[in-house]
Amino acid sequence: MSPLIHGYLYDKMNIEGKYDLYPIKDDVKAGLKELYDKGLSGLNVTVPHKSAVIPYLSGTDEIALSIGAVNTLIRKNDGFYGINTDIEGLKREVEDTGHSVKGMDTVILGAGGAARAAAFMCLREGASSITVFNRNIQKAEKIVEDMREYIRSYALKAQDYERSGVQPDVILKALPFSEVSNVTKNGSIAFQCTSVGLKPDYDSVITDDPAFYQKLKFAIDLVYVPKTTRFMQLCRENGAEAYNGLKMLIFQAVCAFEAWNDVEVPKDLVREVYEKVESTMRRNVILAGFMGSGKSSVGKRLSELLDYEYYDTDSMIVANEGKSINRIFEESGEAFFRKLEEELIEDIYKRSLEQKGKRFVLSVGGGAVLSEKNREYLKKTGLVIYLKASAGVIKKRLENDANRPLLKGDKASKIEELLKQREAVYEEAGDLIIDTDPDTVEEAALKGERRI
Ligand code: S3P
Repeated sequence: MSPLIHGYLYDKMNIEGKYDLYPIKDDVKAGLKELYDKGLSGLNVTVPHKSAVIPYLSGTDEIALSIGAVNTLIRKNDGFYGINTDIEGLKREVEDTGHSVKGMDTVILGAGGAARAAAFMCLREGASSITVFNRNIQKAEKIVEDMREYIRSYALKAQDYERSGVQPDVILKALPFSEVSNVTKNGSIAFQCTSVGLKPDYDSVITDDPAFYQKLKFAIDLVYVPKTTRFMQLCRENGAEAYNGLKMLIFQAVCAFEAWNDVEVPKDLVREVYEKVESTMRRNVILAGFMGSGKSSVGKRLSELLDYEYYDTDSMIVANEGKSINRIFEESGEAFFRKLEEELIEDIYKRSLEQKGKRFVLSVGGGAVLSEKNREYLKKTGLVIYLKASAGVIKKRLENDANRPLLKGDKASKIEELLKQREAVYEEAGDLIIDTDPDTVEEAALKGERRI
């Protein structure tokens, strides 16, 4: 996303500049020198180089040095100078949501690079307590130690806690995850900084104990793909506000842009960038699967959760022809119906190329993905989710349904037979699979939302 963000900022702020990506091999020192010699005026540094570059810089600011990680390099006469805009980025995200960590109890989940940035942000912004929870307690303790060192060497030295931002009596603790529910205080602010819940682990979460979430007032999951993690979902279900890390990504970029170009990016432009990135990340969603797998009910709910439009190929065909699916089959046969379905799917794809604004969720009839041409068009139109259900569950769901022309006669054995024939094609057609057997519509829709 960074080239998109910076490209947009250069353009809108009328500054001549270009943001490119440079792979850097194991030899960080040589890589940095090469980029300096190229004449670059700045760099972002990302995982796994955020700490490794520090020895080769002309200097860093105090907070980056205390954290031991930089993400932004600024060209100086004697080399690159390192700062860390992740901290400022997270701070601005918190502000943007209308909250503040000042005087608050804060909880950091995880002890990697992102957790360090979050912990130091809380320290500098005047949290009253910061508790770092991690499986590996030594890593959490190291962050606490580094925060103490920061207080000793900078905050105290400044002899002015107000300027440093640090609360004089801030409580710092490192604890194992197992204590998270007991120790967290009511009204806390949490920062989810572990990689649990990241692709493809969407349904995992660091803890699912409601007692923990009930104690939170507000939380940020530093992840931004998926858009809504299970952690965020649990926060919301238990009454806490929750956001993902997309704004942090944008704000860290804005801070780097400001440092490189010595400008201030107006708030309205930051909002525009956010909308641009959000819409770039959004994809249409196509739900495929057998009759009774939940395509329409889950599709409608998913479209509400995502704020997308909702369409369904069967309903579109019925509207175009002015006849029910049953009547089309009876009067014109299955081949005719398949032709209509193919034409419609091609047309939807073509229209999606000019699509502006809202994305859509599209449910396709159970036989649509049997056509290779349809599969190709659908994959180009958006993310195809196969809603999987077993024959037993489908039979129950369709028990009282008389609108399925392909299931006339012995419904139960027709379901079994057709599903057996089709299952492999459904799996091939789906970019991902959601098993709807155990889920309510709401649960399946939420699973879908997390994967997009
Ligand atoms: C069909 C499924 C139906 C409909 C038509 C054919 C199929 O859609 O398109 O009856 O071949 O599986 P739903 O899956 O939405 O019921």
